[in-house]
Amino acid sequence: MEKKIKLTINGKEVSARPDMTILEVAKENGIDIPTLCYIPDLSPIGACRLCVVEVEGSRTLVGSCHTPVAEGMVIQTHSPKVIATRRVLVELMLASHPDACLVCDKANICELRRIAADLEVGLPRFRARKHYYPVEDEHPRMVRDMSKCVQCWRCVIACKGESGTPLFGTAYRGFDSKVIYGFDQPLGSQACDDCDACVEICPSGAIRKVRKAGEERANKALFIKG
Ligand code: SF4
Ligand code: SF4
Ligand code: FES
Repeated sequence: MEKKIKLTINGKEVSARPDMTILEVAKENGIDIPTLCYIPDLSPIGACRLCVVEVEGSRTLVGSCHTPVAEGMVIQTHSPKVIATRRVLVELMLASHPDACLVCDKANICELRRIAADLEVGLPRFRARKHYYPVEDEHPRMVRDMSKCVQCWRCVIACKGESGTPLFGTAYRGFDSKVIYGFDQPLGSQACDDCDACVEICPSGAIRKVRKAGEERANKALFIKG
């Protein structure tokens, strides 16, 4: 029979397989921990830190998406310290993010926007320092707007590329850190003609499908007017 261990999450005793992460056990028990970089069944990325939880005996908060469970662990997924930390992380993301939700194609499914709403994060308290990158709209099926990138690295991990070589990589450091295509070229019309995995997996409006004929121009006009 499969070995099970016992641990406590939010005051409730639960059982789990020893090869599970805290996030997986929480999900299995109906506990919603916010995540931006996590992709089920792929290696944890550990970029966003939104999945942090409190583990009794640990001096720091731990990332639940990459921390395995252990016998007798006592975990709080929504303690005041955890919520305060998640809120600061989201505020920092929004401080460098464009105020463009009203005209964003992914507004209805944007994970950053949903998490910010769940955490009741409004205007960030931090000094806004936005990224301004030109929209890359040469590709026939996808548009990249790196100003909206939340640096979750999901596209980097998910892309297998047409020839098995991933299209995206990471470059630069600190505020300039960025997901790049090739040697930091704009996404050209020939870039890829494959799976759209990056479009599906991007949690924000940074990579999206091309709109139907005429819609791109209409949206540009809206920006110019606004
Ligand atoms: S990516 Fe999300 S948060 Fe950013 S502008 Fe679009 S809807 Fe708003
Ligand atoms: S482009 Fe999208 S998927 Fe890629 S790192 Fe940025 S937000 Fe994440
Ligand atoms: S979901 Fe765990 S670090 Fe992003």
